Amino acid sequence: MAIRSAAGAYQVRILEDLGEAAGGLPSGHRLWVVDQRVWDLYAPVLRPLAGPDRIVPLPIHEGCKNLETAQELCGTLMEMGVRRQTTLVVVGGGILQDLAGFAASILFRGIPWVFLPTTLLAQADSCIGGKTSLNFQNFKNLLGTFWPPQRVLLAPAFLATLEEDVFFSGLGEVLKLHLMGGARTLAAYEGLQDRLHARDLPALTEAITTSLAIKQGYIERDEHDAGPRLLLNFGHCFGHGLEAASGYRFPHGQAVVLGMRLANRVAQGRGLLDAALAQRADRLFQATLKVKPAARDLDPAPLLAAMARDKKRTGPGLALILMQSGYGFEQVQDLTPEEVRTALEAERPHD
Ligand SMILES: NC(=O)c1ccc[n+]([C@@H]2O[C@H](COP(=O)([O-])OP(=O)(O)OC[C@H]3O[C@@H](n4cnc5c(N)ncnc54)[C@H](O)[C@@H]3O)[C@@H](O)[C@H]2O)c1
Repeated sequence: MAIRSAAGAYQVRILEDLGEAAGGLPSGHRLWVVDQRVWDLYAPVLRPLAGPDRIVPLPIHEGCKNLETAQELCGTLMEMGVRRQTTLVVVGGGILQDLAGFAASILFRGIPWVFLPTTLLAQADSCIGGKTSLNFQNFKNLLGTFWPPQRVLLAPAFLATLEEDVFFSGLGEVLKLHLMGGARTLAAYEGLQDRLHARDLPALTEAITTSLAIKQGYIERDEHDAGPRLLLNFGHCFGHGLEAASGYRFPHGQAVVLGMRLANRVAQGRGLLDAALAQRADRLFQATLKVKPAARDLDPAPLLAAMARDKKRTGPGLALILMQSGYGFEQVQDLTPEEVRTALEAERPHD
């Protein structure tokens, strides 16, 4: 598939075998930045692909998505001889994409990069759209640029080695996109669910392709997040709040699943979402939520404080994306602390 972008169209190529990536790499000077864990697991396949190129393996966790690490990475790449025409080959998940994509966007005011996404979240969602983000102070994804890769080389075979919470984190974003796609894609997801949970590769490839097509519809209409693209943040207003309030202990995609549940409770409370669709969605959320929130994650005070700092907030009230009956989505700016407390209360275990 080809994604239109103000920075130039870029291709997403789905690879049946990782070795096929060789044909998609640009010629010329290249430097590789690889998630350390991916390097540990896949060096025998990646080393021949890289040939004589130099490789930077980086240990990855949400805490390294910051300016200090981006600066260190720029320094390492400078020591390795990065030039204006160098292509950065980035191999990893959403965190490395955000960090290395950011570095690529500022080095020499922007050098080309190619992305090999290795997590389900990165393959089904973040690899398109061109956003690079860093966390700043206690603000999630506050700093960033729009700098899409030249090409995405997508090998679902990487997904076999993901830890369960990372896999289900990505599945949360897949579920979100299938809900946003409407009745047809929701039914398709339900039909695939068992095979997806078993990591069946053809089922994963189908769900990834559908997810990317749904996201493409939003980002091509609104690449720079001024209108419809904001709706892709369904689940993220609560989700980013939960991540930040838990000190990033809660994995991103799992926080989004819980965020969608909480948002749907608010929508039902406002009479916007019918019970049948809410229950159908909730069954899927429950099957996808593998990291159960601790009591402290459901404490309203830190969550409300984190949501008050949400960058989508434009007025005095809190921002939230709500799902409606008939698969519509809307952004509201008048979420009240009382609605947040009520939605959280229903999540607490009762004895
Ligand atoms: N730029 C965007 O448009 C965008 C969109 C959505 C999310 N994000 C960001 O993405 C991040 C989450 O990304 P993620 O879920 O991909 O997690 P991630 O990049 O942190 O990877 C999760 C873990 O899986 C490991 N890993 C990666 N690939 C592996 C593989 N093939 N086998 C085994 N282990 C592997 C990593 O080392 C890490 O420990 C968040 O910071 C979020 O804000 C960015």
